[in-house]
Amino acid sequence: MGRDHGFHPVRITRIIQETPDTRTYVLDAPFPYRAGQFVTIKACGTLRSYSMSSSPETDAELMTTVKRVPGGLVSNWMHDHLAPGDVVETTLPAGVFCLREGGEAREVAAPVVAFCGGSGITPILSLAKSALAGTGRPVRVLAADRDAGSVIFAAALGELAERYPDRFEVRHHLDDRLGFVTADQIREFAGGDADADFYLCGPAPFMELVENALLAHGVAPERIFVERFAQAADPPPADAPEQEGTVTLVLSGKRHTLAQRSGETFLESARRGGLAPPFSCEAGNCATCIAQVTEGEAKMRVNNALDEDEVAEGWVLTCQGEPTTPHVTVEYED
Ligand SMILES: Cc1cc2nc3c(=O)[nH]c(=O)nc-3n(C[C@H](O)[C@H](O)[C@H](O)COP(=O)(O)OP(=O)(O)OC[C@H]3O[C@@H](n4cnc5c(N)ncnc54)[C@H](O)[C@@H]3O)c2cc1C
Ligand code: FES
Repeated sequence: MGRDHGFHPVRITRIIQETPDTRTYVLDAPFPYRAGQFVTIKACGTLRSYSMSSSPETDAELMTTVKRVPGGLVSNWMHDHLAPGDVVETTLPAGVFCLREGGEAREVAAPVVAFCGGSGITPILSLAKSALAGTGRPVRVLAADRDAGSVIFAAALGELAERYPDRFEVRHHLDDRLGFVTADQIREFAGGDADADFYLCGPAPFMELVENALLAHGVAPERIFVERFAQAADPPPADAPEQEGTVTLVLSGKRHTLAQRSGETFLESARRGGLAPPFSCEAGNCATCIAQVTEGEAKMRVNNALDEDEVAEGWVLTCQGEPTTPHVTVEYED
């Protein structure tokens, strides 16, 4: 395989309690990464992705910030069991929720305007630090939180505002005082910066509201960058037509053959067959769901993780891959 999609043991050097239910894990991980990317951690027999709150431009150490999700398996396990000195298994950083590089001078000078909710501040802080330290771009952040006690990185954001008074603005929106953010407030915060790049990360309904408000405000879709923490479960309808052919999934050395269903990814077929293969982002960004096509052919809807050589070798992101020939076999690595 071309790029390294495997897991690496990484030591936790420090843990910072950011709020009562949010901790930053400082990792002894000399990985190169870009602001806005994430690592995928293997824990509790499963996989979860966590964005970096650190910036390669300003922080010597790599940090991820994890908020407890009520009833959630991995976030609670990390809070309750991990201590400095412990080792966790992580992938190399991945993801495309990054600052645009290159392009015309006007483009790379465009403002960065971010809307985040709750733990969505994590990659936004990373992007803000990199944009401020590594470019001359103005940065504005609207951070929505339930109440003052749940604001993550209030101090770090305040320090950026002091350090870059002409280029950085943060607005804290507290639901307990102001109610939920409205479309009018989003339009007002976006202002006249039609050429800005807009970054969105937060709960799904929040991001939907912001995205729709920005589009209605005249922002071009290609200027809107979205990071989804919780993937919308979007299974194919139960009555999706079965079609000619089969899909065979080889997982832990066992073969499982199902009828093909139109519009179904390999990951969805596996779930329909009662299997539990690896996945994390379900957006084509992390390669956690990688497998190799060993019979037949497949295409991917989105591929932000595999290089050309890997695709030529038959590797496929199963969350994005679907069969294009009647009989396809896909083998997961053990
Ligand atoms: C690319 C990417 C980057 C991410 N970065 C971060 C990060 O920086 N910090 C962070 O804290 N989390 C981040 N997440 C979310 C994280 O991967 C987990 O989904 C989250 O910690 C919940 O996992 P869990 O095992 O604790 O809960 P689970 O056991 O998976 O879920 C328990 C319940 O909570 C729901 N749920 C799952 N995820 C969320 C969520 N994010 N918010 C609300 N409800 C949810 C589930 O539907 C389920 O009902 C990121 C996710 C992705 C895909
Ligand atoms: S689960 Fe991340 S690329 Fe498929």
